Amino acid sequence: MMKPIIVANWKSHKNAAESKLWLDELQQKIQGIPEAVLAAITVIVAPPAVNITALSNHSLVISQPFFSVALQDISPFPAGSYTGAISAFNVGDLGVQYAIVGHSERRRYFHETNEDVAKKVRECLDNEITPIVCVDAEYVVSQAAAIDAQHRSHCIVAYEPLAAIGSGENSSAESIAPLITSIKSEFGSVPVLYGGSVDEQNMIEYRGIVDGFLIGTASLEVAHFAAILNQAHLFISHT
Ligand code: PGA
Repeated sequence: MMKPIIVANWKSHKNAAESKLWLDELQQKIQGIPEAVLAAITVIVAPPAVNITALSNHSLVISQPFFSVALQDISPFPAGSYTGAISAFNVGDLGVQYAIVGHSERRRYFHETNEDVAKKVRECLDNEITPIVCVDAEYVVSQAAAIDAQHRSHCIVAYEPLAAIGSGENSSAESIAPLITSIKSEFGSVPVLYGGSVDEQNMIEYRGIVDGFLIGTASLEVAHFAAILNQAHLFISHT
């Protein structure tokens, strides 16, 4: 059985106080969700890195095994003289189990290359962090090929069509289905998430096609995010 994976990507939103408020509110809200429903899902929250400790020290994260914390990016280098970079080692004692790698905003605004992404994947895996590698339609084959063959099967992959990110225009389930198949053939039988304007209304259309979601906008407000969590167990796969 594969548990559905719901990743909240806060991007560069929220300061420390807002992060705590979000967690407090979510802790309240999930009291209305049955234990069995929560036990059947994996929830990963990627705050701005400065707020990682606020999350990993919060009682929601400590008390709920379904809840994990992720980095939104990671240094392609090990710990050392790389000013401004956050290495896997830096978060090694903060309970970080996942890192988003190669998000299209990193590729676009920070000029990350496929080779950078491959190095980040290696840093993650060398340090027991699972990389959540973002890919997009046109480049799936080259983006996968850049990653060491023996690393690919240890990734979670997020398929995020550029036009769907932050636009309110999610790509239809029908249009993404062939891409999900080609991602599985490039990476192996890894979990594949969809990202791009997912919300609690449209998520259901992807049932049977994806193993979870990477969610930006709809993760920022607890009301939306909790409504997503409430339905996520419908994505359990038995293959
Ligand atoms: P969105 O962002 O849900 O706001 O479209 C998704 C993402 O960029 O990961």
